Amino acid sequence: MTRATAPDWDPDQFRRFAAERAQSFHDLLDRLGTGPFDRAVDLGCGPGDLTALAAERLSIGRITGIDNSPTMLASAVAHASERVAFEASDIATWTSEGDHDLVLAAASLQWVPDHRSVLARWVAALAPGGRLAVQVPANAHAPTHTVAAHVADREANAAFLVDYEQALIDEMGDHEPCFFPFSRILFVARRPSR
Ligand SMILES: C[S@@+](CC[C@H](N)C(=O)[O-])C[C@H]1O[C@@H](n2cnc3c(N)ncnc32)[C@H](O)[C@@H]1O
Repeated sequence: MTRATAPDWDPDQFRRFAAERAQSFHDLLDRLGTGPFDRAVDLGCGPGDLTALAAERLSIGRITGIDNSPTMLASAVAHASERVAFEASDIATWTSEGDHDLVLAAASLQWVPDHRSVLARWVAALAPGGRLAVQVPANAHAPTHTVAAHVADREANAAFLVDYEQALIDEMGDHEPCFFPFSRILFVARRPSR
């Protein structure tokens, strides 16, 4: 089976629906009140605009946006300041020594496997009284996903899907999807164009 290389993120495409995308981020921040927070991290920060926005809205002393996409980080640099920094790292393994007041992860947890271990590492990064704020999409029943699932379920595509799942399992080992049906979301995200 031929597999495509995972594409990097496109910040310009990402910004096309910036307002809609930002709404769930605002909803998450609403639940955190007004701050202040001394030290925070934004895991899977994307193009960084929302990291800077969080710094303002929550009166954060220092926030680091973490991402592993070179294009997203290149875009995020424009939002760096004395209080806002960006670093390349893998959120799946990221942790810190109990020194963060806020660990924020908006629309990023669903991109990594083994949520139980990942969340344990994120919680370990919190100082006593620190807050963990996580948002994941809940659009598994939206047409974007139901149509993909319908197509995937057609007999002609079934073999492809089985091969694809097996290849992913071979490559990634044990996979514990917490949120989406594993085959469907990864299928939608990585199916090569023909
Ligand atoms: C849907 S975007 C969310 C961006 C931003 N948090 C927001 O709410 O608009 C997901 C981001 O997670 C990043 N990401 C995915 N897997 C990652 C990983 N293992 N380590 C670091 N960043 C990751 C992607 O590069 C992307 O920028």
